[in-house]
Amino acid sequence: MPQAYEIIDHEYDVVVVGAGGAGLRAGFGCAEKGLRTALISKVFPTRSHTVAAQGGISAALANMGEDDWRFHFYDTIKGSDWLGDQDAIEYMCKEAIPAVIELEHYGVPFSRTMDGKIYQRAFGGMTTHYGKGTAQRTCAAADRTGHAILHTLYTQALKHHAEFFIEYFALDLIMGENGECLGVMAWNLDDGTIHRFRAHQTILATGGYGRAYFSCTSAHTCTGDGGGMVLRAGLPLQDMEFVQFHPTGIYGAGCLITEGVRGEGGYLTNSEGERFMERYAPSAKDLASRDVVSRSMTVEIREGRGVGAEKDHIHLHLEHLDPDIIHSRLPGIAESAKIFAGVDVTREPIPVLPTVHYNMGGIPTNYKAQVINPTAKDPHAHVPGLMAIGEAACVSVHGANRLGSNSLLDLVVFGRAAANTAAELVKPNSPHSALKGGDDGSKALARLDKFRYAEGTTPTAALRLEMQKSMQNHAAVFRTGEVLAEGCALIDKAYAGRDDLDVTDRSMIFNTDLVETLELDNLMGQAVATINAAHAREESRGAHAREDFPDRDDKKWLKHSTVWVDDKGKVKLGDRPVILKTLTDEVEAVPPKERVY
Ligand code: FUM
Repeated sequence: MPQAYEIIDHEYDVVVVGAGGAGLRAGFGCAEKGLRTALISKVFPTRSHTVAAQGGISAALANMGEDDWRFHFYDTIKGSDWLGDQDAIEYMCKEAIPAVIELEHYGVPFSRTMDGKIYQRAFGGMTTHYGKGTAQRTCAAADRTGHAILHTLYTQALKHHAEFFIEYFALDLIMGENGECLGVMAWNLDDGTIHRFRAHQTILATGGYGRAYFSCTSAHTCTGDGGGMVLRAGLPLQDMEFVQFHPTGIYGAGCLITEGVRGEGGYLTNSEGERFMERYAPSAKDLASRDVVSRSMTVEIREGRGVGAEKDHIHLHLEHLDPDIIHSRLPGIAESAKIFAGVDVTREPIPVLPTVHYNMGGIPTNYKAQVINPTAKDPHAHVPGLMAIGEAACVSVHGANRLGSNSLLDLVVFGRAAANTAAELVKPNSPHSALKGGDDGSKALARLDKFRYAEGTTPTAALRLEMQKSMQNHAAVFRTGEVLAEGCALIDKAYAGRDDLDVTDRSMIFNTDLVETLELDNLMGQAVATINAAHAREESRGAHAREDFPDRDDKKWLKHSTVWVDDKGKVKLGDRPVILKTLTDEVEAVPPKERVY
């Protein structure tokens, strides 16, 4: 039977939920500005998924040849298939340069050129002169760039005395009577206590929801907890139909093999030994943007030119590269290929397959990191007290398809922007109002009890698998209305299965079954949002490839989709305008045009 929980109260100026790259950058930025700042994380900060980022972080430093942030701006808009907001893209690409120099000064151990500058490699869709040349723009620490950045940001957070609540699981936002966010409820996994965090600004930095799919490069912890909380607060998510498949996940294992491999000269072949990307993207070839490469690989496999006994994957070659380059610049992937595919990359190709990697969609924000709640009167209205950053957010700088290495950049640029916004809005140590009229955290505890005392028949892992397989099969690289409609019905059925879960361990201390049930609940709302938004969007744009609507349709669909999912799984769809204007006159907006590589 449910018991009353004793609540431990905390008051902060800012609470950041999630301590990966975005959360740490925002958290120490707030602390540095004199704001009392707490970071809540369900895992130890340096185990956050940022640690898995390999290839690098983009910035037009021009260390390895000509470059300009305006080229980066153009590439990002084209990569986004014109769904990205151009004010935010301008902000990100311009801020990239000081942001990376700042990381260098904080101590990120970047790889170096012979003259001591930060080493930069080529990545997909990154060009000079608006598509004419190839840019070397991705700043790398070998193939462990995320690891290097995450550890450096953690030390900065310690230096600036941000306060950590580690292995605390955020349950739900506390929303006031006027729709403002007042803080967050959390469960301490270590001792089972319940905590109420009051904050003048709550920043969600909870990462993506890759684990809604069966095969993904995302960690087991990537369950989109912020997106789940936002849906339960009655707020929408944006552009959820845009799910990125990374071309080179290891076949059968799903682990990432960085695009940096192709940036260093690696290439893909089919069963005929053909470098097929030359047919699909004559100029960029293997370094076309990710959606283009993933679709081309899928077509090769479908048309019978896949490799292996079942002709169901593709080969990635780097055995022609100098072993010294592999050992100095790609040591991590050499190790992963050995462990997960049994391949010595200096002798044999790696078996690879497009694998879910990144969510372009998420919690809608403006470029200052404030969460948007579009209304009929004001499509840009924002939610007082609530911000979102990193993969949890949809700023939208990635639009319909993210360029590789723009993700680490997004984390640090918008993490810093969130800290700046918080410093503008919050006076350090200002008092908190009494909780009256709205929620006081009771809703979060009622939901916790609903799952804690669930006495149904379905194990959480079984329902999760049902959801993951439905998403994998029905919202894949290529989609049709018919397959998506089937997928919507399957996901509805899985959603209803939440009412028949069997959570046997009722304890509150390290009850991983209960944690995974709460995570599944978060994933489920986002699975519903994704597949319904994909069914509704009747065009092909970026990562959303509809075989029944093969063309981009700017007349009808040059707009962000918004989606609300209520507790019964009922979906409401809407839209808001894409920002096609720049922030300043330092660069010209890029009007939509044909996208070829
Ligand atoms: O391929 C990679 O190294 C991944 C980078 C990214 O997703 O930004």
